[in-house]
Amino acid sequence: MIEKILEQQFVEMYQKSPLLVSAPGRVNLIGEHTDYNEGFVLPGAIDKIIAVAVAVNNTNTINVYGSQYRESISFSLNNSQPSKGWINYILGVTYHIQKRGATIKAVDVVVDGDVPVGAGMSSSAALCSAYGFALNELFQLGLSKMDLAFIGQKTEHTFVGAKVGIMDQFASLHGKAGNLMKLDCRSLEFEYIPFNFPGYKIVLVNSMVKHTIAATQYNLRRKQCEEGVSIMKQFIQGQVKSLRDVPLNELESHRKDLGEELYMRCRYVATENMRLQDGCELLKNGDLEGFGKLMYQTHEGLSKQYMVSCPELDFLVEESKKIPGVVGARMMGGGFGGCSINIVRNDAIDSFISEMKKSYEEKFSKNPEVYITQIEDGAKIIKR
Ligand code: GLA
Repeated sequence: MIEKILEQQFVEMYQKSPLLVSAPGRVNLIGEHTDYNEGFVLPGAIDKIIAVAVAVNNTNTINVYGSQYRESISFSLNNSQPSKGWINYILGVTYHIQKRGATIKAVDVVVDGDVPVGAGMSSSAALCSAYGFALNELFQLGLSKMDLAFIGQKTEHTFVGAKVGIMDQFASLHGKAGNLMKLDCRSLEFEYIPFNFPGYKIVLVNSMVKHTIAATQYNLRRKQCEEGVSIMKQFIQGQVKSLRDVPLNELESHRKDLGEELYMRCRYVATENMRLQDGCELLKNGDLEGFGKLMYQTHEGLSKQYMVSCPELDFLVEESKKIPGVVGARMMGGGFGGCSINIVRNDAIDSFISEMKKSYEEKFSKNPEVYITQIEDGAKIIKR
C-alpha cells in the first residue's frame, strides 16, 4: 500500500520511474542494552516498514521528500555536515557510503513509511537501511548487508549523536519471516531461531512517550559500562575488552570498587546476557511460558538496575501481569518511552487490548496505540 502511494508520489514529483526499496522496523525479544557491550541480542524484523523511491537525477544535488514530514530538503552530494531532524539519516548514509570509497551520483528520493517514529521500533534504522540498500542496488556497489548496517550505525554516531549498538540496523537488513536472529555482537555471527508459536502473537503497546534516544541518558549508560570495564580490568587476568568478558561473580566480588551505581549497571548487562542464552534454549524447546518469565525479569533489571524505564512503561508491564493469556512483557529498545513488548495468547488479544487501553487512559490520560506484529523479511527491493 505504502509502496503504491510512494511510487505515484515519486512519478508526480520527478516525472520518472524509481527503484523502490523497503526496510522494516524491529522488535527485540530479549537482550536489551547488550549490543554495545559485545553481548547477544534476539531481534526480529517486523511488518512495519520505511520505503524509499530513488532515481538518478544527473545533477550534484540530492533532493529528498519526506512524506511523513511533508518536507522537501535538498543538499549537495558532497555534503559532510549534519543538519537537524530526520534528514540527518539520509545525509549520514550519503556521506558514509562515499567515505567507504563507493562512487555514487546525486539522486531524487521520496521516503514514506508506517514505522511509528520515537516508539522504540527503530524507524531511524529502517530509514538508513532502506536508503543504503537502495543506493547499493542503484549503483551496484557490492556492499554486504553488514556493511550497510555499519553505515547506518556510523550515521547515528556522527550525524545524530546517538552512540547506538548494531542491533537495529542489523535486524532491519537481515530479517527473515518467521524467525528471530540470535546475534553475537562481538563476532557478528548469527543464527536464525524460528518463532513458531501459532497460538500467540507479539503485541506492542505504545506508551506514547517519545524517547529521544540521542539524549544523554543512552550515551551515559554506554559510558558507564565502559567505566565498569576499565575498573574490572584491574582485577581480572587476561583480556577484558567489554562487559562480555566480566563474569557476574567478579562483579559481585568488586562491588565496592565499582561503586553502587556502576555495579548495578554492569550487573544488569551480565545477567541479561545469561538470560538471553537461557531464553534461546527455552524458545528452541517450545517453552514460551518459561521465556515470558525471563521477559519480566529483564524488565525488572532495565527498570531497577539499568534504570532506563519510565513510570508509563513500568505501568504497562505491571498491568499486563493482571491479564490472563499474557505470557511475558517488558519495555523494549533504548527506553525512556516507546513500547512495551508483550507475548499474548491469540484468544486473549481482544481483552488484552481493551484492558490495557482502559487502564492506561485512566492513569495517564493518553490513548496508547497497539500493534499486533508479524516477524517478516528484512530490507528488500520492491520494484526495479
Ligand atoms: C536502541 C539502540 C540499539 C540497542 C537498544 C537497546 O534501540 O539503537 O543499538 O542498544 O537501544 O537494546
